[in-house]
Amino acid sequence: MPVDKVSVPEIRARKRAGPKIAMLTAYDATMARLLDEGGADVLLVGDSLGMVVQGLPNTLPVTLDEICYHGRAVARAARRAHLVGDMPFMSFQVSAEKAVEAAGKMLKEGGFEAVKLEGGEPVAESVARIVACGIPVMGHVGLTPQSVHAMGGFRVQGKTEDSAVRVLNDARALEQAGVYAIVLEGLPADLGRRITESIDVPTIGIGAGPYCDGQVLVCYDFLGMYRDVRPKFVKRYAELGDLISDATRAYVRDVREGGFPGAEHSFGMAKQRSMGEPTGSKPVVEGTPVVYGPASDDGSS
Ligand code: KIV
Repeated sequence: MPVDKVSVPEIRARKRAGPKIAMLTAYDATMARLLDEGGADVLLVGDSLGMVVQGLPNTLPVTLDEICYHGRAVARAARRAHLVGDMPFMSFQVSAEKAVEAAGKMLKEGGFEAVKLEGGEPVAESVARIVACGIPVMGHVGLTPQSVHAMGGFRVQGKTEDSAVRVLNDARALEQAGVYAIVLEGLPADLGRRITESIDVPTIGIGAGPYCDGQVLVCYDFLGMYRDVRPKFVKRYAELGDLISDATRAYVRDVREGGFPGAEHSFGMAKQRSMGEPTGSKPVVEGTPVVYGPASDDGSS
C-alpha cells in the first residue's frame, strides 16, 4: 500500500503545527525498515557511521562514497521517512562549487532527499548555493563533531553568553541561507529554547534540551547497542546490546553441544519419483524481499 512520504514542506510546517519531529540515524536497509515501520519521521545517514559502524574514534575519515553507499541501502527501505545524508568532512568546506557538486552527487548516487552539513556563518554561502540548486539543506550548529580537534574534544558549546550568541548567530545565518531545519547539538537546554524561539525553521536537538521542535538520536545509542561511550543525552529505549551478546552465547553453546541445527533446520533428500513427475523441491529462501529504492550500487537501476 502506498505510504505518504514525509516531505520538506511537512517538516517545515511541524514548527507551528506539530507534532514534534522524531529523527533517527540509520545506515543499512534492515535497520531502516524497522525504524520506518516504527514511525521515525526522518532517517539520517550520519557521518557518525565512522564511529558506530566503522569503529573509528571520530567522524573525520568518512568519505562521500561511503555516505552514498549507506544512503542507497537506507533508501531501499525507507518508505515513509524523509531521507537525509550527512555531508562528510572536507566535502563542502573547500569551496561553494565543491559543496554543490558533493550535494548533487548525494542526491544522484546516494538516494537522498536532502543533505545536512555542519557549521554556521562560514558555510552560509555554500548552503545558499546548494539550496539554489533545489537541494534541501539541513543545518547543524553547536557541537559539530567534524570540528572535534578545534573544540578540544566532544564538548558542550554555548555555555557562556559570548559563545551562546555565536551559536545563535550561526543558526540565524543558516536560516537566512535557506535551510529547512537545523540540528542543535550539545547545547544548554536554555540556549536550545532561545534558538528555537528565535528562528522560523524547526530545530532538531541532540543533547540540546526538550524545547527543540524535534529530537534526533543515533540508532545504536537509543537501542543500547553502542556501549563504548554513554553520553548523558542518550536515553536507551532497549538493551539490544545485552540481548545480542546473550543470544550469541546461547548460539555458541548450541553449536558446541549439538543443540543446533535441529531437524527443523535441516533439509531432506528428494523422494524417488517416476519420470516426469516434478521434484517439488522448495527454494531455500521463500518470498522475495520487497525492493523500495535504488537497486544497484553503481547508481543505475
Ligand atoms: O552524524 C550524525 O549521526 C549526526 C547526528 C548525531 C545529528 O550528525
